[in-house]
Amino acid sequence: MQAINPNIRWHQASISRQQRESQAGHRSVILWFTGLSGSGKSTLAHAVEQALHMQACRTFVFDGDNVRHGLCADLGFSALDRQENIRRIGEMSKLFIEAGVIALTAFISPFVADRDRVRNLVSPGDFIEIYCRAPLEVCEGRDVKGLYAKARRGEIADFTGISSPYEVPEAAELIVDTGSQALEECVAQVILYLRQQHILPG
Ligand code: ADX
Repeated sequence: MQAINPNIRWHQASISRQQRESQAGHRSVILWFTGLSGSGKSTLAHAVEQALHMQACRTFVFDGDNVRHGLCADLGFSALDRQENIRRIGEMSKLFIEAGVIALTAFISPFVADRDRVRNLVSPGDFIEIYCRAPLEVCEGRDVKGLYAKARRGEIADFTGISSPYEVPEAAELIVDTGSQALEECVAQVILYLRQQHILPG
């Protein structure tokens, strides 16, 4: 990484994160959904957002496929490109928590080191890793986008779970069985956690 130009100074915001959080009535955090393609990360992140929005929370979802249409359109799926993808989303999510928002991210983010780099970018308690646990057979069976079939035919290189690894989280704050549980149960599990941690008011 390049050294920061000494002519660039940090400008302190006049409204603090605490002021934004107290106006919002909840803490701002990063809910980092990770899991295989087809494990239900995006579906769960959007459903949790819906539940939070109904409670007047400030939220935003960053979705892997969407972000790769714009901010990360220049990146592919090599380990280095994925690292850069996750770094950018991490920095973006950090800005969102400064803005008093609950940032929900849905990226495969297959590498422990990349996820931990985001965790270390923010303060303890700000990064909540949510492992969307679904066996490869289930994700491949769903094959919503037909990508597993393509990967099996060798038409997509470095496909997570097939020709590129997925490193299971070692210390996720939450494990959600998105492969077997109903969506409502998964949402309830996340919301309960947020209440227990006093991120949402009781
Ligand atoms: S990540 O590994 O860098 O976190 P990200 O979540 O942004 O991945 O993008 C994953 C999405 O891109 C998948 O849901 C799938 O639709 C698509 N995709 C295309 N090629 C690949 C690939 N080689 N491996 C995994 N996903 C891929």
